[in-house]
Amino acid sequence: MLKPHVKAVQLKASFKHMEKTASIHIEDKVYTYPVITGTEGEHAIDVRRLRKDSGFITFDEGFANTGSCESAITFIDGEKGILRNRGYPIEELAKHSGFLEVAYLIIYGELPTREQSSEFRAKVTENTAIHTNMHALFDGFPSSSNPMAILSSMLNALGCYYPEMASNNREQDLEHFDNAAALLISKVRTLAAMAYRKEMGLPFVYPKHDLRYAANFLHMMFTEPYKPFEDHAGLTEAIDLFLLLHADHEQNCSTSTVRMVASSGANLFASVAAGVCALWGPLHGGANTQVIRMLEAIHRDGDDGSRFIESAKAGKSRLMGFGHRVYKNYDPRAKIIGETVEKVLSKLGVDDPLLDIARHLEQAALNDPYFVERKLYPNVDFYSGMILRAAGIPVEMFTVLFAIGRLPGWIANWHEIATSGNTKIHRPRQIYTGPNERHFVPIEERG
Ligand code: SDX
Repeated sequence: MLKPHVKAVQLKASFKHMEKTASIHIEDKVYTYPVITGTEGEHAIDVRRLRKDSGFITFDEGFANTGSCESAITFIDGEKGILRNRGYPIEELAKHSGFLEVAYLIIYGELPTREQSSEFRAKVTENTAIHTNMHALFDGFPSSSNPMAILSSMLNALGCYYPEMASNNREQDLEHFDNAAALLISKVRTLAAMAYRKEMGLPFVYPKHDLRYAANFLHMMFTEPYKPFEDHAGLTEAIDLFLLLHADHEQNCSTSTVRMVASSGANLFASVAAGVCALWGPLHGGANTQVIRMLEAIHRDGDDGSRFIESAKAGKSRLMGFGHRVYKNYDPRAKIIGETVEKVLSKLGVDDPLLDIARHLEQAALNDPYFVERKLYPNVDFYSGMILRAAGIPVEMFTVLFAIGRLPGWIANWHEIATSGNTKIHRPRQIYTGPNERHFVPIEERG
């Protein structure tokens, strides 16, 4: 039996409400609210009573200064470039662990024992294939369909094959959580590979139960009817690392979307399908695709990147893969991936001109006041596409790989909401800027 869920009580235990308070002076009144302090010393003013007390709300478009939840899963210190999953530094996990083990850690809160690890791995392996009825669903998509559209649809459709896990009855969904989590982590690869094969007009490749996670994915992607996929130069290892580095990242746009959907009581399948849609955007998970397109365009123009940097500084283009809402220092994942790219390309004996351009852009930006003043550093997407490109994965599939990697984080955040007991449905307020009251005008009197 897998370890029982992480109990909500642990969540509470990790926060201590200090005597600290914050006062808000509005007109001639003073409103005082408690300060919540996290386990890493970050502070928040608890304004949950503000509107009731004062009639005022706070306004923070993009939520750069607003905490939407308490969470015990991941911690980021953007100023120091720190990222920890359940307290473990990403650098240590990247060096010593693997994607499935980190997925277990993120979902269940602790690194698995040998027994838990083999049980979890067995559960993932036995769930790799999908119901043959789902094969027909792929026929409904035009061959030009974006694989992210297919993936979000298929993850929701998957719930139809396991109604007991996707009932929207929270207690029942939680009862089946362990199986649903393993099943989603396993089948997301299969669905992704099938979307690729469909687009390429190739027959689907059945999973092989003797292959480990990333190897099985590459097998389902690339094995052709007449020759098996052979792993050259440790691509499987590089893809596993890519997935590990993407596994969870606090309340980013897609994870917050998963929590928003989960807050309504929606099941895990519907919630992660919504996460895929949010991740697709070019400012978020879609950036890894945009980076390669940017580098290809720079290469096509015969530019070494210098002209592009100037156009970015003039606001005419965006240096994709640079900048981050939270990191105002180097994204630790970018560092790790940057080093891995060198290793993979040299093992493959590939001399990719795009890497030279990327390196030039990085050095130029890191020494240019425009980027330095705005604290714009490479983020996870800047080099990640180079690894996928080396593995022969088409650019259209890059964000799909990001989604496969992020799935454990989405699952853990859904679970945190589902077990927190006191979750309120997410329903932000707004500042209305439309017309004041006016009355209906019959059509003959309009215009
Ligand atoms: C991911 O949140 C997460 O954790 C996300 C993620 C995860 O793991 O889930 O880390 C994954 O999404 C990484 C980010 C991938 N996106 C990109 O690489 C797209 C390029 N970067 C940006 O568009 C931007 O930096 C964001 C969207 C990432 C962050 O945007 P913010 O915090 O809203 O910052 P901003 O757009 O307000 O920019 C602040 C200033 C502006 O200049 P000024 O108006 O002050 O003159 O910096 C400039 C921006 O024009 N700027 C850039 C830039 N990013 C910001 N200028 C040129 N190139 C860029 N990339």
